[in-house]
Amino acid sequence: MPLKFYFGDVDSAFSSFWPISLLMQLQGSETELMKFFFAKLSIPLLAIAISFLAPQTAGAGVPSDFPYGLATGNIANTPHNLGATSVFITNGTTNMCIFCHTPHIGVAGGPLWNRQTLSSFTAYGTTIGGSFIADNDISSNSLACLSCHDGVTSFDTLVNAPGKGNGGVNTNQPINFDWVFTVDGNTVSDVLTSPSAVLGTDLTNDHPISVTYKEKIASLRPTSTLISSLVMTSEGLSVAAGSDASSTTATSNRWAVKGFISSSATIGDLLSNGKVECASCHDPHFQNTSWDEVESTWSSAPTVTGLFLRRVGGNSLSGVCRTCHAK
Ligand code: HEC
Ligand code: HEC
Ligand code: HEC
Ligand code: HEC
Repeated sequence: MPLKFYFGDVDSAFSSFWPISLLMQLQGSETELMKFFFAKLSIPLLAIAISFLAPQTAGAGVPSDFPYGLATGNIANTPHNLGATSVFITNGTTNMCIFCHTPHIGVAGGPLWNRQTLSSFTAYGTTIGGSFIADNDISSNSLACLSCHDGVTSFDTLVNAPGKGNGGVNTNQPINFDWVFTVDGNTVSDVLTSPSAVLGTDLTNDHPISVTYKEKIASLRPTSTLISSLVMTSEGLSVAAGSDASSTTATSNRWAVKGFISSSATIGDLLSNGKVECASCHDPHFQNTSWDEVESTWSSAPTVTGLFLRRVGGNSLSGVCRTCHAK
């Protein structure tokens, strides 16, 4: 198993930056010498990584990607990297973690959160099961996501900017740093505008968040349920050939939990303080390039995100929903 982590990491880390360093080399840049050495190194390493992964290929050209135990982490190569070589790029910093985390004096409620939204939200309200989510129940855990996905707060509204003394250190008051953001060299808005990425401030039409997970209500499974024990074809479902049926994601319910494709995580591990939050279903670190209906591709292009769903295979067979709801 440790070998797998090792090659998994090397593969993703190198494949994301060696073409860039090679390009710089071709352009005559000498300042990237270190990266160039890595670039040279990465070719044999990649070959080893590929040959190592090859035996796991599971027929019909569908690799059994993301095996249990694999570490999942790839901010760099996804749109969540706003600092360098991703979809949105800023002139303000090359830091990528800073858009969500700060090493010091973070906002309570998330791991070293560096974000706060000043928007006010309309929460889901009352569910059929009788739960009530009030507007001020939305937790800082989900507010961190909504601080960009509200389509109102700018990407560079940070509690603590990179560098010395920048920002609202000790005040927890976010500041808009007015950096310039570009996509393909063209200046773009510093708030999310793509309709599919903007949830807005009205959350009554989104799956309840900051809602306490209560077993049995809404056919919710016990929190102790082992996620990997659920088989999505167990109810006699059959799927057309060539679809997800040919991959292992129908019969193995693999989720990225706590940074790994976990074989031991329970539903309880998806919750934060016993509640469902954005990060229960999405892991922004996990570039989920597994086969799924949303993006049926294995490409690792930065635009392919698999919607950062935690489940390998995305929501094929409604596997995300059916992991919690025994419907
Ligand atoms: C788009 C927002 C976002 C960005 C960017 C981001 N993170 Fe996170 N990070 C999160 C969320 C959300 C969690 C909590 C996830 C959970 O509950 O499992 C988290 C949790 C973590 C954790 C603890 C969980 C674990 O995997 O052990 C670490 C460590 C971490 N992030 C490191 C980083 C680093 C390093 C970077 C930059 C390379 C980064 N993050 C960039 C959102 C982000
Ligand atoms: C710093 C701003 C920022 C934060 C914070 C942030 N995101 Fe994003 N997110 C983005 C950007 C930018 C994109 C790319 C949107 C696009 O391509 O138009 C994106 C894309 C996504 C997508 C994929 C949408 C698509 O159409 O491919 C999902 C899902 C997502 N984010 C979930 C989350 C979750 C969950 C959190 C909180 C853990 C979070 N994001 C926090 C900026 C952010
Ligand atoms: C109960 C699980 C769950 C929760 C909680 C959840 N999402 Fe999602 N989200 C999904 C699924 C599943 C999809 C894929 C959409 C589909 O299959 O139609 C998705 C899609 C998205 C997309 C892309 C929409 C598109 O049409 O491209 C964004 C952005 C997003 N979620 C952000 C968030 C944010 C921000 C939160 C918290 C406020 C959140 N999600 C909470 C399950 C969830
Ligand atoms: C992490 C666990 C989890 C996942 C995954 C999940 N849900 Fe839920 N869902 C909940 C919880 C908790 C509630 C709140 C139940 C209550 O208290 O009434 C809920 C409520 C609902 C409700 C009822 C809302 C109401 O007004 O009563 C619907 C419908 C629903 N979920 C659909 C879905 C769908 C569709 C998916 C897949 C995209 C999904 N859920 C994924 C945990 C989850």
